[in-house]
Amino acid sequence: MSVRAEITGWGKYVPEKILTNHDLAQMVDTNDEWITSRTGIKERRIRTEKDTTTTMAVAASQDALGVAGLTAHDIDLIVVANSSPDYLLPASANLIQHALGATCPALTVAAGCSGWVYALVTGSQFIQTGAYKNVLVIGVELISYALDYTDRSTCILFGDAAAAVVLQPNTDGAGVLTFELGSDGGLAQNLWVPGGGTVNPVSQSVVDNREHYIRMNGQEVFKFATRRLTDCLKNITGQAGMTPESLDVIIPHQANLRIIEYAARSLELPLDRFFINLHKYGNTSAASIPLALVEAIEEGRVKAGQIAGMVAFGSGLSWAGAVVRMGERIHAGGAPELAVPAMA
Ligand code: ACO
Repeated sequence: MSVRAEITGWGKYVPEKILTNHDLAQMVDTNDEWITSRTGIKERRIRTEKDTTTTMAVAASQDALGVAGLTAHDIDLIVVANSSPDYLLPASANLIQHALGATCPALTVAAGCSGWVYALVTGSQFIQTGAYKNVLVIGVELISYALDYTDRSTCILFGDAAAAVVLQPNTDGAGVLTFELGSDGGLAQNLWVPGGGTVNPVSQSVVDNREHYIRMNGQEVFKFATRRLTDCLKNITGQAGMTPESLDVIIPHQANLRIIEYAARSLELPLDRFFINLHKYGNTSAASIPLALVEAIEEGRVKAGQIAGMVAFGSGLSWAGAVVRMGERIHAGGAPELAVPAMA
């Protein structure tokens, strides 16, 4: 039996501070009715002073390690999906590795909202080859730092969060069954931060023109997302000899309820096949799918033996999907009290 990467631990962290649609209506020309009807989002979490990309990732990872019964010393590899690092250098993965007390290699995958599925697939390869036994895959985003709170078309959409899973080898059929990764860099400028990189480095004019913030062509991203979501779900289930209908639960990127409703209609699936928590958190970019996965597990929406389809789209523009069979260790409820301390 071939070796697959099974999810054996999971954890999440969201900042305490809640920013509601009503709060945003005090900041920009918007209202709860518009945001709810166009996106499904009611509120999102925003970092408080104590939250950094590293602290959020560490909190989620400690819970994931606790569920898996591992300590930080047991981790062989950390893969972090992140586009909002504490600093431009070093990569977020190195700081998270050190703060966790781990001594293993660590790398960051930057693929916007598709990043965590890219990271999951990357981690899974190291398990399948036998190179590593315990891989920590984190999705973390402190995206509020790149939001322009004078731009009502973007600031209403996003929130901060972190979530993580532990991957371990399985030979009983559980784990990552199939995947698809995609990129269309020709569409990059539909969702980007124009300033602060090497082409347009930080300068007074970048700041004055607010080019250090996210800019988005919402309608183009919407069209891309609906097409990719449905095509990718068909492709990844097809590779596994299944159809989207065979999936017990679909965990889509939590960007916009209308995008998910569109996918459900075009795939002729009931909406309740899709796990949705975007009303509470908005779009948390690379943390979106793992945060939804962790809550789906905690709420018993995905159980041992069941098959989940995960599918994301995001800046790049990029997309990514995976079909995952849940192993016997999946159980409802949150992380147990840590019997073994996860910190070094
Ligand atoms: N409140 C009130 N009115 C608004 C707001 C707001 N927050 N934002 C835009 N409007 C106005 C616009 O100005 C426009 O007004 P006009 O007709 O007078 O010009 C009107 O509402 C309609 O604007 P549209 O952009 O056409 O609205 P649309 O229905 O397309 O919804 C949205 C906008 C929600 C952004 C949608 O396009 C969308 O969700 N796109 C996908 C975005 C996405 O998922 N991005 C994340 C990708 S993942 C990643 O990697 C980060």
